[in-house]
Amino acid sequence: MEVVIATPDELARLAAGAIEALLRSRPEAVLGLATGSSPLPVYEELIRLHHEQGLSFARARAFTLDEYVGLPPEHPQRYRNVIDHEIAERVDFSPGAVQGPDGLAGDLPAACAAYEDAIVAAGGVDLQILGIGTDGHVGFNEPGSSLASRTRIKTLTEQTRADNARFFGGQLDQVPQHCLTQGLATIMAARHIVLIATGRGKADAVHQFVEGPVSAMWPATILQHHPHVTALVDGAAAGRLQLADYFRSTYAAKPVWQGL
Ligand code: GLP
Repeated sequence: MEVVIATPDELARLAAGAIEALLRSRPEAVLGLATGSSPLPVYEELIRLHHEQGLSFARARAFTLDEYVGLPPEHPQRYRNVIDHEIAERVDFSPGAVQGPDGLAGDLPAACAAYEDAIVAAGGVDLQILGIGTDGHVGFNEPGSSLASRTRIKTLTEQTRADNARFFGGQLDQVPQHCLTQGLATIMAARHIVLIATGRGKADAVHQFVEGPVSAMWPATILQHHPHVTALVDGAAAGRLQLADYFRSTYAAKPVWQGL
């Protein structure tokens, strides 16, 4: 795992730069998109690159990580709508090129299985953008998630619902209890994973994710088994890393020819 400690602006440029390099070499690449606030500066940078540098998504496809169960189609916090609003509709993806799990399906297990099939049929995800929850979840794989899990229904923890209540006018009772999420094994199948974490509130989760024992109690730790993970963290989120000095000196001495 490579850990880069930098300012939030620099982290956004690095993540967007990795996506740009991928799309310029393989325009038909498959992206994994995440919701939450952490990836938003990355999306802003991609939109800038699209408008100012001609970066095109026209031949690319994308899969989102997760979705609330039961939010009505027009609800602004439905992740499908969030992704459309934050990135998909602001670049030149082709119609239907961005897919997400269907939290309104009549048969949720069937919708989850169909989603797994769609990712495989697309050739798998080339680059997955990830955030991390304060409890160490990725996607909505809460503590206790099977490390071998696939897309399925999950129950959100009270901590996650409280964390996300800010998107629902601060009203905890408006945050759904259930979600669909790519499983940890689904996420692990992506060829490159770029996880972004900023702010002091993520310091414990980042410490566990990078340096803790692999455990379902901190689901992101499964990524220690992945051969190509880039962790992009700001100084606050890196605040509990025992190896912070090592990560800083390693990145400072990184050869210029080596991308993320
Ligand atoms: C949400 C999402 C995750 C996200 C995480 C952190 O609940 N399901 O995909 O990574 O929580 O969100 P944020 O980046 O806003 O802190």
